Amino acid sequence: MRREDSVYLDNAATTYPKPEAVYLAVEGFMREVGGSAGRSGHRRAVETGRMVYSARESLARLLGASDPLRIAFARNATEAINVAVWGLLKRGDHVVTTSMEHNSVMRPLHAAASRGISHTVVTCGRDGSLDVALLAEEIRPETALIVVNHASNVTGTILPVADVAQVARERCVPLLVDAAQTAGRLPISVELDGIDMLAFTGHKELFGLQGTGGLYVREGLDVAPICFGGTGSSSSSLEQPGDMPDRLESGTLNAHGIAGLGAGVEFVLSEGVDRIRAHEVELTRRLLEGLNRLGGARTYGPSALEQRIGVVPVTFDRMWPPDAAEALDSRYGIATRPGMHCSPLAHRTIGTAETGVLRVSFSYLNTAAEVDYLLESLSELIAG
Ligand SMILES: Cc1ncc(COP(=O)(O)O)c(C=O)c1O
Repeated sequence: MRREDSVYLDNAATTYPKPEAVYLAVEGFMREVGGSAGRSGHRRAVETGRMVYSARESLARLLGASDPLRIAFARNATEAINVAVWGLLKRGDHVVTTSMEHNSVMRPLHAAASRGISHTVVTCGRDGSLDVALLAEEIRPETALIVVNHASNVTGTILPVADVAQVARERCVPLLVDAAQTAGRLPISVELDGIDMLAFTGHKELFGLQGTGGLYVREGLDVAPICFGGTGSSSSSLEQPGDMPDRLESGTLNAHGIAGLGAGVEFVLSEGVDRIRAHEVELTRRLLEGLNRLGGARTYGPSALEQRIGVVPVTFDRMWPPDAAEALDSRYGIATRPGMHCSPLAHRTIGTAETGVLRVSFSYLNTAAEVDYLLESLSELIAG
């Protein structure tokens, strides 16, 4: 690598760059189609409707849902999580969650407390791992929801969502999985794993645009809308339609965003999640081993590669994470992210609430040469 090349290692925030097909799909839609899905019978509206349905189909294939119409689009994972929380819970309900959750889960739950909805946070291990038996112990008769991260955006720890789903099923409590970091990165099957609701974001490893995401809701579970309005269906009625996805999709869709998201998901499907996963595991192994050799750096998260995604938190003996991030950016053109990553409880869990960490996060489009360049740069910084 040359120093003048910029290296992007902040993919857990949002992926950059996107596959070429994503840029082409957005431009192609905006220039050549440009209609509003479900709003008329003219060619552009119909073609837009087809494109949106095709993106839903691709997502359903990726997430293991047999009915694409069970997926409602949203602005991002945060909005999808809010739809699930506010659309399902009522005063007196209780929620069980984990200490590795992002603020997209913790803030709605904190806000829900003032509306008489309580929650219990199950403390995870120092490596971010979840003991499902501890979670099961916190389920009460009034527990109406379990919310679990599929993988932490701080440590990369993969949580055992299929085991949590089994407990949830046995105790008849709906499960919401936050797959913001894992959709496109890890194999997921909502139906095989018995996941009731799954929130995803479009702009991370699905390679779509910011402003896209969605919520899968299993057949038979009714999530009430938190936003009401035009859907292009049942237009003479003042009642919000009862069917998915219109029930949760009021207002004109972000069609150009969905065009890009559809292309991103197709890219993931054509590469194959297993191949994407293998590449990220290899990059993660290379970085962890390299950091170990450097000395003066400490990493967090599970030691077993199969228990983590391509997210590596680092602290240094003689460098603050924000200083390291600033020097990597200004001197070497490497983008990482220091701080709390919108997940203060996760930092408390792993013991980094005072300092934060420098987070290095990969996408499928990163290379081994970029990891080596990061390691060389860190080696120089550590040597001072
Ligand atoms: C684990 C996790 N959940 C939820 C979110 C929220 O995603 P978005 O900002 O796209 O809503 C993020 C974003 O970083 C995340 O890492």
